[in-house]
Amino acid sequence: MRETTLTPQDFIYPMFIVPGRGVRNPISSMPECFQESVDEAVKNAKEVFSLGIPAVILFGIPEKKDDKATSAYDESGVVQTAVKAIKDAIPDLIIITDVCLCEYTSHGHCGIIKNGKIDNDSTLEVLALEALSHAKAGADIVAPSDMMDGRVGKIRKALDEEGFTDVIILSYAAKYASAFYGPFREAAQSAPAFGDRRSYQMDPANRREALREVALDIEEGADIVMVKPALAYLDIISDVRNNFPVPVAAYNVSGEYSMIKAATKLGWLNEDAVMMEILTAIKRAGADLILTYFAKKAAQLL
Ligand code: PBG
Repeated sequence: MRETTLTPQDFIYPMFIVPGRGVRNPISSMPECFQESVDEAVKNAKEVFSLGIPAVILFGIPEKKDDKATSAYDESGVVQTAVKAIKDAIPDLIIITDVCLCEYTSHGHCGIIKNGKIDNDSTLEVLALEALSHAKAGADIVAPSDMMDGRVGKIRKALDEEGFTDVIILSYAAKYASAFYGPFREAAQSAPAFGDRRSYQMDPANRREALREVALDIEEGADIVMVKPALAYLDIISDVRNNFPVPVAAYNVSGEYSMIKAATKLGWLNEDAVMMEILTAIKRAGADLILTYFAKKAAQLL
């Protein structure tokens, strides 16, 4: 009578790529997660694939950051190099790349700043270059997470013009300005140096607005849409599932991971049971795909 069944195929495993060789830095607020150099990421990706997890999403922590995010579209950048190396080693593992500027800007915002404000349209140019450089490296799916207006259309056009018509766009369509991203910002070294992300990410109080954001992204060419975070936004996942015919992804974000890790470390919760319950709930709400730092652990249990 069980209506919802998890499988390792539901998961996407996030990875943080840093420069160097043989680097595997533990992320203190995210136990069992690491910043890894390309060689280490290849080893880890092999393990991910052997567990039956079909896809990884890559985040880059570059050697140098600047106010124009130039290393975001460097053809020999960390993510571009990692995509090539992982594709070479494991051709059947699907590679998704996060397309955003916050990891590459010196100020940590997801866009280019002009006169003290995030400038939407000049950011789109850089995002398109970044997505294109990922596609050239061999990414199967690009995932814009910046929340600028019009970026999906801009990226679709740039990809098509260069012949990457088969590259899929997974848009972070309903992405909220959430406090649950705290640990990720340590992992990706991407905390904004001033202000916050509320001018481009959504207000957690808004539900109908998510449907507008998703509709716009689909109109512009998104193939898969994402709701983020997942746990406190199950209603949004369900709304998106029930209103649109495209696949829905949900991001079980860093803070959702860390709070379970912290509580279980104190002996207050049973980690495996809580993890499985939450992942099942995210799928039950309507997610076809779940991005989660628990992917390997859950796949092992399954
Ligand atoms: C980049 C990005 C963020 C996350 C994914 N892509 C951070 C943010 O918007 O500040 C968060 C993921 C997580 O918390 O696990 N914009």
